[in-house]
Order: sequence, then structure tokens, then C-alpha cells
Amino acid sequence: MCKKEYEGLPREDIMGENPVLVAASAPGKCILFGEHAVVYGQPAVAVAIEQRLTVSMSSALTWSVDGSALDEQKHPHITLLRDTWLKHGQPMALHVSGDIPSASGLGSSAALSAAVGAAMHHLAHPEKGIDRDGLSAFAHRAEAHAQQGRASPMDASTSVEGGVVVLSDRREAHGRWLYTRRLSTPEGERRWEVHGIAPPEDDVYLVLGNTGVHAPTARQVAMVAEALKSKPSRMQEIQAIGTVARRGLAALVDGDYEAVGHAMSENQILLRNLGVSSPELESLIRAAAPTALGAKLTGAGGGGCMVALTRHPKQTSEAIELAGGRTLVSKIGNTGVRLDKRTDSIP
Ligand code: PMV
Repeated sequence: MCKKEYEGLPREDIMGENPVLVAASAPGKCILFGEHAVVYGQPAVAVAIEQRLTVSMSSALTWSVDGSALDEQKHPHITLLRDTWLKHGQPMALHVSGDIPSASGLGSSAALSAAVGAAMHHLAHPEKGIDRDGLSAFAHRAEAHAQQGRASPMDASTSVEGGVVVLSDRREAHGRWLYTRRLSTPEGERRWEVHGIAPPEDDVYLVLGNTGVHAPTARQVAMVAEALKSKPSRMQEIQAIGTVARRGLAALVDGDYEAVGHAMSENQILLRNLGVSSPELESLIRAAAPTALGAKLTGAGGGGCMVALTRHPKQTSEAIELAGGRTLVSKIGNTGVRLDKRTDSIP
């Protein structure tokens, strides 16, 4: 298991002399169905995981992140948020902690944008609650900027809203419609309808297995775009992923987790054929299979993480670790961005 670096509310003694004024946390995410195809308007389902990122802020003489000066190149999301909310305000020292591994497809950068955005918005407008629509729109823009203009709002909306989030190019019958997101991508205008669903609870777990191989999302997404451009008939594969995602979504809404697992494994076959899996992912997926209801890669693939749906998290986790993966275990659907410490008398 990945060791938790830090748990619970930030302690003031780790922040230096000044007390923590505000702390906010946001969850990572895991995609159950529909990655890559969602970029082309097919439905996709993502889940907020238990692993969270926490940011705490205390007043300081200059802006800093974990003891280093705030740097636009290193911290583009934080700089943009600072300029939006607190450009002329009191400088802050930010401390970031949590247990979402970075650059592994679990949405750590969207969680950072969500948590920092919520904390800064609270400092700027302590009288207002979290503006989830505005915050997820901002986090989506930041993701799109980092992925050369190709990003669905999946990470941002799941981290901000929590629970289980469904994206599609149309309003779906299942779930509560939240908002529409639009983006101008190199391949044209994109639109997503974002929904939240609340599947029936059951004794099932997600085990995430990290290959430790870094494969940038932008590269994977560009590879699929290239494959479709050179052979447009491959759009059928994208549509097939959409069909499986829709079936998986219906099973999730019914609480039929056996059928959810089956759809996940079918989704994996299609992702493998699309060319976005890897030998490392395949080996962890194979290791999980005997104790899981279903398993697939999650996120952009090529490396990063796989996810198994299981009723036996300990056995599944051990099997994945024996095959060389590092694991995290999560229930399905966790709280979205939240303020963990707030203050109403900001200097
Ligand atoms: O690698 P991640 O977790 O950011 O997921 C990427 C999911 C894609 O569908 C491949 C891209 C996107 O923006 O939806």
C-alpha cells in the first residue's frame, strides 16, 4: 500500500509561526468507463476516490508553496488561481499534502486546482459558500491548458463534485444533470453534459494498481487522434467504447456490480485494441482478474494505473502488488472538494 504522508487537518506547528487560516481538500478520481472515447463525445463514468489532496494556507511575507517561492512555471494552476482571487491580497504560504500519487492518472492536478481554488475563494469571499460550478469550470480550463487544449472536464468535475460523475454529449436519463462544459480543441468544438449519479451502496471496492510508468495524458490523447485521422473507420472502436460505457452505467445505477465488472473488462479489451494499454498494465490486470469482478486501465493508459472492482480488496491488492504494482483501495464515491478549516476573521 502507498503510505499516507499526512492525514487529517493540518497542524499549525508544521506551518511555521503563523496559524493556518484556511484548509481545503479534494479527492482524486478514477475512470470506470469511457476514457479516450469521452474526448469524442461518448459517455464516460468517473468516481471520486478516498485519496485526497489537502492544501492549508497561512499568512506570510511572500507567496510560497511547501517552502519554495511560488513559481509560475512550476505552479501554473496555483499562480492562475492566486491572480484570480488574491492578486492584491495578503501573501500566503501554502502547504500541500495528501495521498494521491502524482502523474499517474488519478487526477492529482485537478484535485490541487479544486482545493487551492476553494481555499483562495474562501479567503477572498468568506461569506460565500463553495461555488462548485465556477470552481470546476476553472479547474477544467487549467487541465485543458496543461493538455495542449485536449481535455474533458472529467477530472475537474469529479474532484469538485465528488460521488460518481457521468459525462456525455447529451443529457442522460440517468442521474442529476449539473452543467454543460464547452472547449475549443485542436479537432474542433467540444461539448459535454455533466451529471452526478448516486449508485446503490454495496460491499465492493476499487483497488487501484499503479505501474509506476509515466505516460503523459497529452501524448496518449494525441496518439488516438492520430490513429483516427489516418484511419477514420476506427471511429467504430470509439463508438463501441461508448456502447460498453452506457451498459456499465446502467448496471451501476441498478447496483448490479457483477455486470459493472463485466463491462469494465469489456472496456479494457476495446482500450487494448485502440493501442492505449501497455505490458505493465496488462500484467497488473491479469493479476487482479481471479479475485475481481472486472479490471481495466484507468485514465490515459500507456502506464499510470489500472483499476479492479472487487469484493475481496485484500486479496486483489496483494495479487497486484505481487505482480509489481503499488496499490490503493477506495470505496466508490467520496466527498468532493470541501473546506476542512475556515476562518471568518481574515487579516
Ligand atoms: O490520464 P487522466 O486521468 O487525466 O485521464 C485522461 C482521460 C482521457 O479521456 C484520456 C482524456 C480526457 O481529457 O478525458
